[in-house]
Formats: sequence, C-alpha cells, structure tokens
Amino acid sequence: MDALRITGNKRLAGRVQVSGSKNTALPFLFASLLFDQEVAFENVPRLWDVETTLKLLQEMGCEYQWDKEQGRVRILPRVRQKTASYDWVKKMRAGILALGPLVAKFGEARVSLPGGCAIGARPVNFHLEALKRLGAQVEVEEGYILASVPSRLKGCSIVFPEVSVTGTENVLFWGAFAEGETVIENAAQEPEVVALGKLLQSFGARIEGLGTSVVKLVGGPLRAPQQSISIPSDRIETGTWISIAMATQSALEITHAAGAELGSVLKAFRQMGLGIEEQEQGRILKITPGESYEAVAVETEPYPGFPTDMQAQVLVNMCQSQGVSHMRENIFENRFMHVAELRRLGARIETEGNLARVEGLTRLKGAPMMATDLRASASLVVAALMAEGTSTISRIYHLDRGYDRLDLKLQNLGADVTRVAQ
Ligand code: EPZ
Repeated sequence: MDALRITGNKRLAGRVQVSGSKNTALPFLFASLLFDQEVAFENVPRLWDVETTLKLLQEMGCEYQWDKEQGRVRILPRVRQKTASYDWVKKMRAGILALGPLVAKFGEARVSLPGGCAIGARPVNFHLEALKRLGAQVEVEEGYILASVPSRLKGCSIVFPEVSVTGTENVLFWGAFAEGETVIENAAQEPEVVALGKLLQSFGARIEGLGTSVVKLVGGPLRAPQQSISIPSDRIETGTWISIAMATQSALEITHAAGAELGSVLKAFRQMGLGIEEQEQGRILKITPGESYEAVAVETEPYPGFPTDMQAQVLVNMCQSQGVSHMRENIFENRFMHVAELRRLGARIETEGNLARVEGLTRLKGAPMMATDLRASASLVVAALMAEGTSTISRIYHLDRGYDRLDLKLQNLGADVTRVAQ
C-alpha cells in the first residue's frame, strides 16, 4: 500500500489543470450498457474508480480499451451476464449504478448490495423502492439485488424522501425507457445528475426539469451516440485545489476548472477572505491569498448548497481563520473521520453530533496519518501541506480512487511530496 510523505509550510506556484469529473465519468461509463455498438469517451480521469467500473463492465462481457495517457476509453458492450459482483461493488459503492442501465435495457439485473463505507451506512432503499414502483420485481438474496421486469417498466411519480444523487441517476435510466411519463420529485440537482440527463437527451431521451427538484421523463427508444463523449471537469477537484492554495498561501491558477458549479464553495472561501478571480465562466480561477482569514459557519446541503464532498477540505482551512468556525454535516451520519487525524497535527476541532467547531489560528505540525475515505484523504493532504515539518499519510489508495495523480500535480507546483511504498 502506498503512502505520501509531505513536508509542508511551503508556498506553491504555477498552474494546475483539473481532470475529468469522477462522479460524472462513472454514470457515463455505465450508460454504455444501453447500446450494442462501441461507445467512446474522452477526458476520462485516471482513477481507481474508473478502473473498477471498467472491470465491472468487462465481467458482464463488455470489452474496453483505455488509453490512460490520452484519457480515452472505448467500450464495446457485449453483455453476457447482467451481474455486478460483490468483488467489485465492495470496492466502489457507485457500482449500484449498474442497476440503472441493466434493468432499463435488459429488464433484469443481479447487482451486489454496496457495503457501507467509512462515512456511513449508505443504504440504497430509495433506489429499490423507486424500481418497485416502476413495476419491477425486486428481491434481496444473499447480499444481491435481484431485479426483473415482467413486461416493461411503467412510468409513475417517484418521490425521494431525501435527495439522492445516484438514486436520481438510476431513475433517469429507468424513466428514459419506461412506458409513459415518470415524474421525479425531490430530484437531485447536482451537476453530475444534470450531465447524465443531458447525455440521455443527446441519445433522444425526452427529459424536462434537469437541475430542478422536479424532473419529468417520457420513455422511448434511444439512439447510440455518433461521436465521442467528453467528461466535464471535476468540481470537487477544483474546490480541493482552492483549499490547497489557501492552505499554502499560494497564488495558484486553476485551469479546466468547474468554477460555475461551485457557487456555494466560492462564497465560503471568499467569506473567509480568500481572493478568487473567475475567468471564462469559471473555467479559469486565479487565487490570491489573504493577509488574514475570518471565521465562518458552513452547512453541507444538496446542490446548489455547500457540497458534503468539500466539507473535510474546508474544515482544514478553518484552522487558518481568526476565531471559531463551525461546520455542520447534514448529508452523511459519520463524515468526521478525518477530525481525529487532523488533531494529531494539532488542529483544535471538537465535534458534537454533526457539528464541528474549529478554533482558528492553529499552527499545525506534521505527523503520521491514515486515510479513511476519499475526501478525508484529500483533507489530510491539505493539512500536511499547511503543517510545519513532515507528515506521512498511509492508505492513499483512498486518494487515488478519486484524484488523478494529485501527487504529481503537487510536485509540478513545487510541493515537497513523495510517494513511498509501505
Ligand atoms: C453521491 O453518492 C456521490 N457519489 C458522493 O460522492 C457524494 O458524497 C454524495 O452523492 C452526496 O453528494 C457518486 O456520485 C458516485 P446520496 P450517493 O444517495 O449517491 C442517504 C465522493 O466522495 N440515502 O446522494 O451514494 C445516504 O445515506 C462520493 O465522490 C439513503 O438513505 O449519495 C446519504 O445520507 C462520496 N437511501 C444521503 O441519502 C438511499 O437509497 C445522500 O446520499 C440513498 C441515499
């Protein structure tokens, strides 16, 4: 297992390019199951989760080529078994997205229940309840979801008790094929959901209301894409670079950025006192460090609110503010795993339930740490870059699941970062 050794408290300089969005690439790759001929993708990020998705598709019978240098993937859908096995789904909960296109296209699927993970139980009951309402038979046996459709999915109204990103994405797949109209209420509005909806529209799907809480679909035949599908930039990687720029007091330039999808995040950083200049509709962000930073209170919420996937990173930046800042995590029940690790560097963070209280003006000192989940590992990197001295972060496969060569990008900015085998 690899580890990262980082010596922090060093200004960085230069330009960094954001890679393709993980949480858009995954549903896009699964969407290839809807077709019989080859589907090509560009700007695919080099991530373990992309590898896992391609292995899942290969296990079903699909063939793929992945030019990692060029970021190009070609998938030849040849589905022989409609199964997403536990071996792969346990590595990546987003394997639940196989349920969408398999049931939509073939009327049947056998998909492993995703395990929980560090940040919470993460059930998929909303997905299964929606699928039953659309007319499928759904059983859970020996850890697998067994779904079958007697004739054809029938459009209906689906009300999500809580906003669910992949839950909404799976219903988009089903509604695009179901007979008649499907109305999704309390639909997720995340840019990744909108991107999938627009991709399905490019295949001929009739969808209205993308990006709002009520989405309407009328099912019908889809036509295969005629040209390569490009993955948009990753908004969470973009936000992570802003966090790194602030933590190291660096005037970084972030290119291929997804600034237009980070309104609530830019607002929080600006409230703290960070300078962020947006160019080309947020495709370029120029960061100007502040002399001092203000304490803020932030709450994570579904889009367009502050994203839970930026909570851990901004918690570290709150150590730089004058006074006490507050972060309330409203999406996942256990997403403060990084706090214990940050305390090892001297961070003064107290948690009570889903509220974290951060004492500012804390000088962090490097120490050994262990990553627990994807975005927690990013916050440990931000903290190590801020801290005086050297830190070692173990189990950074968590980082490699969702960030495309973050260590190399940091080295190019002058950071003292080394990947070591452990
Ligand atoms: C997606 O996960 C993202 N993953 C997550 O990103 C992200 O943190 C999350 O949305 C919230 O924005 C992908 O897109 C692949 P949810 P998802 O369904 O869809 C509860 C990352 O770091 N819930 O929106 O699994 C759930 O427990 C990852 O890239 C149910 O109770 O999240 C959570 O509390 C981490 N039953 C809340 O809803 C369900 O059936 C939101 O979950 C589904 C969800």
